[in-house]
Amino acid sequence: MTDASIDVDETGANPAHGPGASREFAGSVVALEPIMGDSVLLTVAAPPQIARETRAGRFFEILCRYEETFDPLLRRPYSAFAADPESGLLQFLVRPYGRGSAWLARRAFGDPLNILGPLGNTYRIASRAQNLLMVAGGVGVAPLVMLANEAVARGCNVVFLLGATTADALLAPQWLPGDVEYVVATDDGSKGRHGFITDLIPEYVRWADQVFACGPEPMYRSLRNVLMPLRVGGRPPVQVSMERAMACGLGACLGCMVETRRGLQTTCVQGPVFDMGDIVW
Ligand SMILES: Cc1cc2nc3c(=O)[nH]c(=O)nc-3n(C[C@H](O)[C@H](O)[C@H](O)COP(=O)(O)OP(=O)(O)OC[C@H]3O[C@@H](n4cnc5c(N)ncnc54)[C@H](O)[C@@H]3O)c2cc1C
Ligand code: FES
Repeated sequence: MTDASIDVDETGANPAHGPGASREFAGSVVALEPIMGDSVLLTVAAPPQIARETRAGRFFEILCRYEETFDPLLRRPYSAFAADPESGLLQFLVRPYGRGSAWLARRAFGDPLNILGPLGNTYRIASRAQNLLMVAGGVGVAPLVMLANEAVARGCNVVFLLGATTADALLAPQWLPGDVEYVVATDDGSKGRHGFITDLIPEYVRWADQVFACGPEPMYRSLRNVLMPLRVGGRPPVQVSMERAMACGLGACLGCMVETRRGLQTTCVQGPVFDMGDIVW
């Protein structure tokens, strides 16, 4: 659903992150469907301008409060899974973990949602990159599905690796563009390769011009251990999306800081996407 003709700042920074810029809008649920086992794909009607500014890697802070309470107090961050600039539709993949995400996964058609975004920076495909390796763990698949669509629209070749606990928790291939080579691994061996998705990386490192990843931090540690010894002269470069707990999403609370070689940075404004080599692990 992405409009590939809209350029982003080549740094991936969010031009809409000006001081005092209001990013809050009222969305309305237009569809919910089961996806990846216990998760839900939520489709939300939003102003088309919001969808136009939404690129792979950016996220939204959604208010998930139970009726007539302030609980949970803080918004919950969700990456964009898809955005259609024509219709204004946004899609989010929601896995229920705790109170906020359980509330969100139980919305119904027509329910209003208070949303802040799009926030944060984007993944950045280099202009000369042709072969892109995407590595997803669990719900980390969401921003990479959007990136795969952007990449295919630019004529890139994409290998998409997804790791999950069991076959039920995998993404059905219909959600990826047809031209993508999709390879999966499961912890229990119920589908695809038996083991961690990072075990497959050595097969693709020489082929890849760039690597993009999204998943839990243990996956990044394993990615680093597997990839670093195989890289030659820092190639291929790797971008990762850091999923830190976030309170404000606007760079104000400093609760989401990540240590980088350029000092402490906010995951919500300067991230969530960082060059893996910049992060101090
Ligand atoms: C930039 C960003 C993008 C994100 N995109 C997505 C997305 O596309 N889809 C999605 O489902 N989630 C995504 N998340 C994670 C999502 O924000 C959390 O799952 C959500 O905030 C949990 O809120 P809660 O109130 O349900 O759980 P809480 O009450 O905050 O936590 C309940 C319990 O679940 C654990 N928990 C919470 N989140 C996770 C997690 N992600 N993994 C493992 N355990 C967890 C907590 O440690 C705690 O023990 C993203 C997070 C960030 C920072
Ligand atoms: S969440 Fe408040 S500064 Fe990032």
